[in-house]
Parts: sequence; C-alpha cells; structure tokens
Amino acid sequence: MAKGLDVGTMNIISAQQEGNETVFVQQRNSFVEIEYSDMAEQMLSRSDVLHIRKDDKVYVVGDDALNFANIFNKETRRPMKHGILSSDEKSAIPMMKLIIEQVVGSPSHPNEKIYFSTPADPIDSDLSTLYHQKTIESFLDDMGYDAEPINEGMSVIYSELADNDFTGLGISFGAGMTNVCLAYYAVPVMKFSVARGGDWVDEQAAQATGTPVDKVTSIKEEDFELDFTTDVGGVEGALSIYYENLLDYVIENIQREVDEEDVEEGLDVPVVVTGGTSSPKGFTKLFERHLEEANIPFSISGVSHADEPMYSVARGGLVAARSDEEQPQQEADEEEAEAVEAED
Ligand SMILES: Nc1ncnc2c1ncn2[C@@H]1O[C@H](COP(=O)(O)OP(=O)(O)OP(=O)(O)O)[C@@H](O)[C@H]1O
Ligand SMILES: [Mg+2]
Repeated sequence: MAKGLDVGTMNIISAQQEGNETVFVQQRNSFVEIEYSDMAEQMLSRSDVLHIRKDDKVYVVGDDALNFANIFNKETRRPMKHGILSSDEKSAIPMMKLIIEQVVGSPSHPNEKIYFSTPADPIDSDLSTLYHQKTIESFLDDMGYDAEPINEGMSVIYSELADNDFTGLGISFGAGMTNVCLAYYAVPVMKFSVARGGDWVDEQAAQATGTPVDKVTSIKEEDFELDFTTDVGGVEGALSIYYENLLDYVIENIQREVDEEDVEEGLDVPVVVTGGTSSPKGFTKLFERHLEEANIPFSISGVSHADEPMYSVARGGLVAARSDEEQPQQEADEEEAEAVEAED
C-alpha cells in the first residue's frame, strides 16, 4: 500500500488504491473560530464535524467550516496562503495537522510510503517553501508514514503523462499558486511556481468591481465560462480579464524559464493543464491559443485538460509512492535473477 497527498491552499486531498479504483478523500483547507457555548457543544457532539476545543473557543475545521461560519456569522480563515503555510495565521499548524490526519488516516503498515505535494519556490516572490515542506513532512512522519515531498508540477506529469513516458509540460493552476514542470523521461528539467492562481483572480476581480471576494469566488465556481461574450462591466467580465492576464503571466514566465537545451531538438512536447482554476469552460482553448502566439523554444504537440482537475496532484503522488514501494521488491527480484544466472 502507498498513498498520495495534495496539500493545497484551498483543498487537501489524499489518494489511495482500493482494488482497481483510486479513492480520494478531500477537505477544504479552512476553519472558523466560534465561542464555546452549550448550543455549539450540542451541535458538535451530535455530528462528525471535525473540530478542536481550546479553552473557551471551538475551531470547526475543513468542509464544515463554511456552514458554521454562516450559522454563527463569522468569517472562515485559511491556514495556507500562496501555496505554503501562512505566516499571518497563528493557528495554521494545529488546523493543518487535524485536516491532514483526517484525510490520510492511519498508515496501513509502519512506514507506509506517502508522497505529498509541495510547490516549487516561486520566482515572483521571496517566499521559501522549505519550512512548509518540513512541517508537513514531520506531521506525516509522526503519524508513522515514510513521507517524501514531490513537486506539484511533477505530480501532474506522473498522473497525466504516463502514456508519454512521463515527458511533457505539466501545469497545475491552483488557488494560491500556479506550478509548472517540464519533465523528460520522468526527470524534471525545469520547474517553477508563480504566487498567482485562483485567489489572485478573485481578489483582483473583487477589487475592480467593488464586490466581496467570497461573492466573486462563488460566481466563478458556479457557472462562469471563458467565452468573452457577456457581462462587460460586471463580475464575470472582470473575471475573464484577470483569467486572461493570469494565463499570459504564466506563459511569459515559461518563456523566460525554459532553455532550448532543456529539450531535445525535434521533440514535440505535450502540455497538460489541471487544478481547480483550470475548470471553467473555455480555459484550455484559451490557454492553447495564447501559447501558440508565444515564443516558446520547443514545439508543442497539443494542450489537454486533465479529466479530473481537482484530483491530478493527489493521484500523481500516489503513482510516485507506489512505484517507490515496488522498487525494493523489483531490485530484490533482479538480484535473485542475477544470482540464479551466475549459478548456471
Ligand atoms: N468550477 C470552478 N471554476 C473556476 N474555479 C474553480 C472551480 N472550482 C474550483 N475553482 C478554483 O480552484 C482553486 C482551487 O483549486 P485547487 O484545489 O487545485 O487549488 P489548491 O491545490 O488548493 O491550491 P494551490 O495548489 O495553489 O496550493 C480555487 O481558486 C477555486 O476557486
Ligand atoms: Mg494545488
């Protein structure tokens, strides 16, 4: 057995194999603080709501945070920002720990392998990902796992480009970040992140139109399409503008980061886009069009959209963890075969 874990700014998702099926468990990476009261106590004790009590406060964590925030007229808070633990949120660590424990569960045997996603260091901010990565690793190790970090973009390649010898460009458009990785036969030759994603689009569109951010996020997630036909001056119009700006920003940085030497001459590279922010209808086409117009130093065979954009990163972690777990067995088998050959 082995597991994959996507530690995202908005969603934390685990993946494991059960027979022929990959099973995902997901929680929102969010929480709300409410005053301890008899009513809160009653509501919580009769349910399986994820929560912690600390002194006279109760923290409701994960998917239920938003419901409780509405009932108690409070705002939800988020343990992560721009792809890593938020330094502005003092309660981040216990909240993340609780969500991760719930999502991954106990290991099925001691030192079960788990590959968890971490972003590449962003090229447009001086945030470092090391503290975040080491903190998550220690939560998982303390639970009895053998935890390994995997770059988020590389995880996309494991998940989506197995049929192409793990060669291509994988891009995860998340909430806090966009992660890009170019791999060549499963070896990453270029990887980077930018500290912009869905949250940035929401904040910009909210500011431009004077709309609360939460409202913008729900309009975007409900039925927004990137067709550029409607709503000039409205929220959807603003969303389109910032979506297009995000795509151009990512493409500009790909142009800047990729060297011709990274790619063998004459090779066509497939591109896969994924992540929650890639969900709106029209996204992949728009990205493809802008990529065609850009001056990328290698040729692109096509742009495709992952079938399940929310699950690519967790699935990629699982693929990596499983192949890692199989390796010692494979090596042992090979050694045995060699020994038998030597005897003959
Ligand atoms: N149907 C949808 N249409 C548009 N955007 C969506 C949709 N569903 C989710 N999103 C957006 O996708 C983002 C979350 O995506 P995802 O779960 O891939 O991010 P994450 O992995 O948590 O973040 P990161 O990788 O940046 O740390 C949010 O900005 C959310 O608003
Ligand atoms: Mg992500």
